[in-house]
Formats: sequence, C-alpha cells, structure tokens
Amino acid sequence: MSPRQMKLGLFLWATGHHIAAWRHPKAHVTAGIDIGHYIQLARTAEAAKLDMIFCEDAAGLREANVGIASQTSRSIGFEPISLLSAIAVQTGRIGLVSTASTSYNEPYGLARTFASLDQLSGGRAGWNLVTSASNIEAANFGSMGLRSHADRYERAREFAAVVAGLWRGAGSGGLNHDGQSFSVRDALDLPRSPQGAPVMVQAGASEDGKDLAARTADVVFSAAQTFEEAKAFYDDVKGRLAAYGRTSGDVKIMPGVAPVVAATEPEARAKHEELQELIPDEVGVALLSSYLSISDLWRYPIDGPLPELPESEGMKSRQALVVEQSRRDGLSIRQLARHFAGARGHWRIVGTPAQIADELQARFEGGAADGFNVMPSWFPGELDAFCALVVPELQRRGLFRTEYEGRTLREHLGLKGPASAA
Ligand SMILES: Cc1cc2nc3c(=O)[nH]c(=O)nc-3n(C[C@H](O)[C@H](O)[C@H](O)COP(=O)(O)O)c2cc1C
Repeated sequence: MSPRQMKLGLFLWATGHHIAAWRHPKAHVTAGIDIGHYIQLARTAEAAKLDMIFCEDAAGLREANVGIASQTSRSIGFEPISLLSAIAVQTGRIGLVSTASTSYNEPYGLARTFASLDQLSGGRAGWNLVTSASNIEAANFGSMGLRSHADRYERAREFAAVVAGLWRGAGSGGLNHDGQSFSVRDALDLPRSPQGAPVMVQAGASEDGKDLAARTADVVFSAAQTFEEAKAFYDDVKGRLAAYGRTSGDVKIMPGVAPVVAATEPEARAKHEELQELIPDEVGVALLSSYLSISDLWRYPIDGPLPELPESEGMKSRQALVVEQSRRDGLSIRQLARHFAGARGHWRIVGTPAQIADELQARFEGGAADGFNVMPSWFPGELDAFCALVVPELQRRGLFRTEYEGRTLREHLGLKGPASAA
C-alpha cells in the first residue's frame, strides 16, 4: 500500500477534450447546453470518488473564425458557475471548481459568487484564478485590447488578496482595502465557508504565474508532456513555497492527463486513431495557432517546421511547451497540430488500464505530481472507461481512495486551511 494517495479531478469540456470529439459516432453533439449530460458526468465522477470536477472558462468564443469554431468540441457551453450551481444540488460529495477571470471581474462580486456556491454545496467550491490571455475575450469587455501579461498579473495579485480577505472575514467584520486597482469597504453577506474558504486553484506557468500560485493557490493545474517537464514544474512551484511561509503539503500539483483506455493495447490505439482521423487540418492548425498566439500560421507550409515565433503576451507557458515539443520531436506543423488537437498540449496516454496506472504511478511516485486533472477525449464514453477500468486499478494498488474521507473539497484534497493571500 502506498501511504500517499493521488488526487483526481475531472476536467469537463462539453463533447470531450479531443477537438474532433463532437464527430465521434457516439458523441452527444449538443452536450454543451444539456444540463442532464453534465449531471450524468458529475455523478459518474462522484461514484468513482473523484476529488472534483473542473470547468474552464473564457467569456467568448474560443475561435474568431466561426467556420472553424463550429467544427470544434467546445463552441457552445454554459457559464460555468451557473452550471456548477445546478450540479451542486444533484451531487453530494464531489468538489466543484470553476474558472473565473481577474481581468473581467471585480473581487467583491466574485468573492460573493464563490462564497454562495460554497454555502449551497456544503463546502465543495473552488476558484481557478486566471488572468485571461485571449484577445477574443478582451474584445468583449470594451477594453483597449489585451492588457500586458505583467499588468494582468499585477491586477490578479491584488484581486486574490482582496478575495481571500473577504472569505476570511466572511461572517465577521469587514474589509478595508484601498489599493491600486480596487477599493472594498464591506464584508460579505454570507457566513464563513464550511471549509474555511473556497479552494484556490491556479494554472499560470509563467514566472509571474508560478509565483502567484506559490503565494495563494491550494491546487495548481499544469500542462506537461514529458516526466522531466512535469518534474521541473513541480519542483519549481514547490520550491517557491517557503518564501511565503508555506510547505510542500499545502499545495497539490495536478497536471492534465488525457487517457485513452481499453482492455487491450491495440484496442486503445484503434480508439485513439479513430478520433485522430476526424481532425480537419484547418481546425487543428487554428487551435494550435490560438495557443501559440500567432494569427497567420496557416501561411507557412503545413509539412514544414514551426517558424520562429515572437514571445507571446498570451499564454507564455503553453507557447514554450509547444515550441519545445516541435523542436525535440522534429514535428511539422501538420504533425504538431494533430498531436495538439488531442489534448491541447497536455499529456496523453493510450493503453490498457495497467499501462495507464503504471504511467500515472510513475509520475506520482517520482515526485512530478500530487494527482491528475483527467481529460477524457470524448464524453461520456472515455470518462466511463476511465472510471470503470483505471480507477479500480489505482484502488487495487492503494493509490486512490475507495471512499470519500470527508465532506468538503478541502478535506478530499487533504488541505489544512485557506492559504494566506498576503
Ligand atoms: C489545466 C489548465 C486549465 C486552464 N484553464 C483556463 C481557463 O479556464 N481560462 C483561462 O483563461 N485560462 C486557463 N488556463 C490558462 C492559465 O490559467 C493562464 O491564464 C495562462 O497559462 C497564462 O498564464 P501564464 O502566462 O502564467 O501561463 C488554464 C491552464 C491550464 C494548464
């Protein structure tokens, strides 16, 4: 028996994380606006005793070209906190984590929304703090365009501190904050959270992102391809904690993983190929371009190498990850786009339950992860397969719980109390 057990989250994404998931023969094409679909997924994850479900967000379409957007697996969907509020009353234990932007909200309103989700779910809420890197989103908020990376993080640091202050002060006095971007004078109209404060999640991987995570986050999501990349990220973030008076156990690092599982390896490979065959090249290249923050990638020969790119003001870390992979594996734009379309740069494992459990175990025990954010390639089939085949294998190995130990998300994650957001 392993004394330490891994944490597992389910990363929700309408029809599935593979960009061609909506074209799978068994896909549920209108999944994005079917509440019954989401409730079913949440219940499946809860029956498997997963720690949490996670909803990403961007207030806008992910792709400016509507012809391309209409061919992807996540072009329509609910605003996620509304969605999680509905899921909250249809589930009892599983954690409910949603993204919300520090660029397009004010801290008092957001603190109140998450405090409400936390109360109505009995202490199961978590907030994934993002700085919002997309131009498309910026254009929806009447701004002068995307603010610089440094400005976004400066605002995010102050935002996080105000929210944490409101959560900590909920039910008692008030907050008296007069800062660079925000001024807040009041307390929340809600009692203190059943779990102390909603769980704070972050996924930025730039220097500013990792530093803010070390200061404030309880959970860190990341994208990594190789063991070495995952381990370097893990050591880097954990190494920053001491500067903020925190210890390694205070933060759970959960990289994304996109498993494709079947009883035999050839079956798993065939399932994976079936989806790969459904990717139109222009859709794959458009997705890759958006994560690389380059608008004219399609101008370059598709069977040639990735061109030199200017440093991004968008998602710096994901751009670096993709460039590193293209150079390391000598991939053409077409090959890279096809690879990227499967899980947007996250780690993909194709194999039997034992092979997948071996790989997860190696990263977990090798000190590269505290758990994983699971990204099924299509819903519900690949989630069902993960819960039916991989979870029992991890449980047999003593690597994952067979029953919830507590009621709140903080208890599931083994987190003591709210992080200090100084
Ligand atoms: C697993 C994962 C989930 C993410 N979810 C979101 C999201 O929902 N919305 C968003 O705007 N950014 C999301 N991001 C992006 C990051 O949170 C961050 O904003 C981006 O990487 C830019 O920050 P950086 O330059 O510090 O990496 C996600 C990243 C990862 C790895």
